[in-house]
Amino acid sequence: MAQVLGSGVAWETGSSRNEWRWLDTIDGRQLRVVASIAPIRGSVDDAGLILVFRDVSKEFEVEELKRDFVSAVSHELRTPITSMKGFLDTVLGDPEMPAEVRTEFLGVVRSQLKRLAGMVEKILQFSRLEAGQKMELAAFDLTALAGEIVAELTPISASRSVAIDWDGPNGPVEVLADREQIRSVLVNLLTNAIKFTPDGGSVGIGVRDDGRETVLTVRDTGIGIRAEDLPNLFQRFYRAPSSGQHAPGTGLGLSIVKEIVQRHGGRIHVDSRPGAGSTFTVRLPNRAPE
Ligand SMILES: Nc1ncnc2c1ncn2[C@@H]1O[C@H](COP(=O)(O)OP(=O)(O)OP(=O)(O)O)[C@@H](O)[C@H]1O
Ligand SMILES: [Mg+2]
Repeated sequence: MAQVLGSGVAWETGSSRNEWRWLDTIDGRQLRVVASIAPIRGSVDDAGLILVFRDVSKEFEVEELKRDFVSAVSHELRTPITSMKGFLDTVLGDPEMPAEVRTEFLGVVRSQLKRLAGMVEKILQFSRLEAGQKMELAAFDLTALAGEIVAELTPISASRSVAIDWDGPNGPVEVLADREQIRSVLVNLLTNAIKFTPDGGSVGIGVRDDGRETVLTVRDTGIGIRAEDLPNLFQRFYRAPSSGQHAPGTGLGLSIVKEIVQRHGGRIHVDSRPGAGSTFTVRLPNRAPE
């Protein structure tokens, strides 16, 4: 027991979860535990004790995660809210404001509101996934779905003179997957490719079946990603330091993408060089996800 306990672990009887202690296990892990201690009555010399440890590490982790989530979300939401409030106060405080200035300011409010709605949507989607949302599997043509999304995003890319090209033959490729979730993978990867590509650049999308896997690639000729940022890219709320100047965002998109790909038993990989663009490759197994 002494080996399990490590040093310096001492409790009063009946300690609550707030009175946790670190416990070093023999296999070198550190757990947060609470203990209940009770004497064994009726034993020969009344000298025995029952020591019950409860591992509360997971509960703490979840709480920490929730705290981080709430603080990151509030921080992100505050920016568009502050901006909208500023513009609305200015408009309301100046009845003499020329109509065209007022229209311009209200236009800013509308675009901030759109940004806010997008963030809330992403946060909701993220929390649904975290809560273990069920997958609705169906067979569909991934190329056709990609085509639909390219058509939806073309007005945005065209406004920035970024062309979206098909890489490879764009024939039908059937997959068995959750269509809405795969839609979200495509929208996130393509939106990133467009927003992190300077005006006049290009984005490419490819869908192919290599027999064993369905391979989806989204590449761009954009700003690229530094090697030191790559390991953090799929973490929730992570945004590379220079991203803010290119476009707003929550930093949740790629963590949603990764979660969905993994749920489908697939993998995601990124190749990128600063200034030379990025290629995101998603591989989905050609068998039903478990
Ligand atoms: N195609 C890309 N080119 C360059 N950097 C990228 C690209 N895709 C993602 N990144 C980097 O990875 C970060 C995380 O991407 P993610 O999609 O999770 O967040 P976001 O796009 O910043 O926000 P959101 O997806 O919520 O709008 C981005 O902020 C950016 O730094
Ligand atoms: Mg994104």
